[in-house]
Amino acid sequence: MSNRSLYFVTSNKHKFHEAKDILENYNIKLRMVNRKIEEIQSDDLRKIALHSLKSAFTINKFPMIVEDAGLFIKALNGFPGPYSSYVYKTLGSDGIIKLMIGKDDRDAEFRSVVAFSNSSIIKTFKGIVKGKIAIKPRGKLGFGFDPLFVPRGSKRTFAEMVLEEKNKYSHRALALKKFIRWFVRNL
Ligand code: IMP
Repeated sequence: MSNRSLYFVTSNKHKFHEAKDILENYNIKLRMVNRKIEEIQSDDLRKIALHSLKSAFTINKFPMIVEDAGLFIKALNGFPGPYSSYVYKTLGSDGIIKLMIGKDDRDAEFRSVVAFSNSSIIKTFKGIVKGKIAIKPRGKLGFGFDPLFVPRGSKRTFAEMVLEEKNKYSHRALALKKFIRWFVRNL
């Protein structure tokens, strides 16, 4: 078990609380730097995360993580994918439900890329959770597209789960656990 600390640069409190809950189990103290980083347009989450990390690191040089995530829906050819943030703001969950009318294939996945940097190293870690798009949004917890997504192995949407339960399944938790395994061994 380590006894370290690092910063999560994000403007999303939900993401921060999810990450903090996981890292605390490994005695890693996580602090939030509440900063909205201008994202680049790319169809590659890793490129977006790396760009955000580099922007954040030019301002503060402490050990930090950033994260980029998206919802990829099979019947919509991976839409909204890396554009999830924009699509959430413009179409919202109801818009996605409308696009899914008449689609029998409800398969989807959430993907996350966590990027870490200190003054000597940059590393990225991926997490993917497969699941289905619900017939209609369900639940009030969480954020973003949580009411739409039912992870494989559960009947509930992410928005019907408390944080600890979402963390058993989520893309972000999977990426963070990979990061932690590397972090405690190497730093
Ligand atoms: P970001 O660019 O990583 O902040 O995330 C893009 C968008 O994907 C967010 O605005 C959410 O709409 C959606 N998203 C990413 N991760 C999650 C999640 O864990 N639950 C629900 N929606 C998410």
